[in-house]
Amino acid sequence: MTTSDASSTPAEQNPYGAAPAGPKRVRTRHFQTAKQQGIPITGLTSYDMLTAQIFDQAGIDFLLVGDSAGNNVFGYESTLPVTVDELIPLTRAVAMAAKRALVVADMPFGSYEGGKEEALHTAVRFMKESHSHAVKLEGGVRSRKQIKRIVSAGIPVMGHIGFTPQSEHGLGGHMIQGRGSSGAEKLIEDALAVQDAGAFAVVLEMVPGSVAAEVTKRLEIPTIGVGAGPDVDGQLMVWSDFAGMTEGRVPRFVKQYANLHSVLTDAVNHFRDDVATGAYPAPEHNYE
Ligand code: KIV
Repeated sequence: MTTSDASSTPAEQNPYGAAPAGPKRVRTRHFQTAKQQGIPITGLTSYDMLTAQIFDQAGIDFLLVGDSAGNNVFGYESTLPVTVDELIPLTRAVAMAAKRALVVADMPFGSYEGGKEEALHTAVRFMKESHSHAVKLEGGVRSRKQIKRIVSAGIPVMGHIGFTPQSEHGLGGHMIQGRGSSGAEKLIEDALAVQDAGAFAVVLEMVPGSVAAEVTKRLEIPTIGVGAGPDVDGQLMVWSDFAGMTEGRVPRFVKQYANLHSVLTDAVNHFRDDVATGAYPAPEHNYE
């Protein structure tokens, strides 16, 4: 996000490559400017200080501490068991590391569906205890009241519609949403509800590109695609997917920019063999 803005400076030199020029700290208003100026927004998930530091220094605009930590940190089969207490320390680690990126805390299943006061209570906990800059929650029309209440307390909200993993059982599995004319109408209705409730951006997950393009055209707030094609205002990926950290099949929309799984596997095999043969530690690793 290299929006022209009074607080923009050329990005400082960093060891990971040239980060784009842009705001010193990405704020929700920069999302709006980016949409108006047609500048793509970038987002990655992060669950710890080490990855947050790398992504932040590379100029990624926002870091989502997603409830996908359920799968990628805690080893659960889905995001459903993740709790607020589990996500807060991860979010705090990311927030401590991110000097430029906007940090978004994901509100997990069971922490906001009960009503607007429950939603506000959870959002306040994230803001106070994790130092995040915004929260995200799933659902369009059904989450309108919750979004409105959180926003009224001065907390920015990112919406999330289309395929919403917390409802995977209700939706009948990992299914593309927004197909057919009634699916597209429902998606547009959800998107407008999120916008009317005051969200600053909305994630569109696993929806046909043509429908995402239509939603993007209809909304004033930016759309962030996760498997929503190119005609959205920004792109978000789960870091372990984009970096090839996971074994096995990845969804069609994922582009793997590295194969960290094999890099780490090679490294750990090498270490194990070196210890077994006595090649490590070598004299240069010893203290005099
Ligand atoms: O938890 C997560 O990683 C998410 C994104 C996939 C949108 O919600």
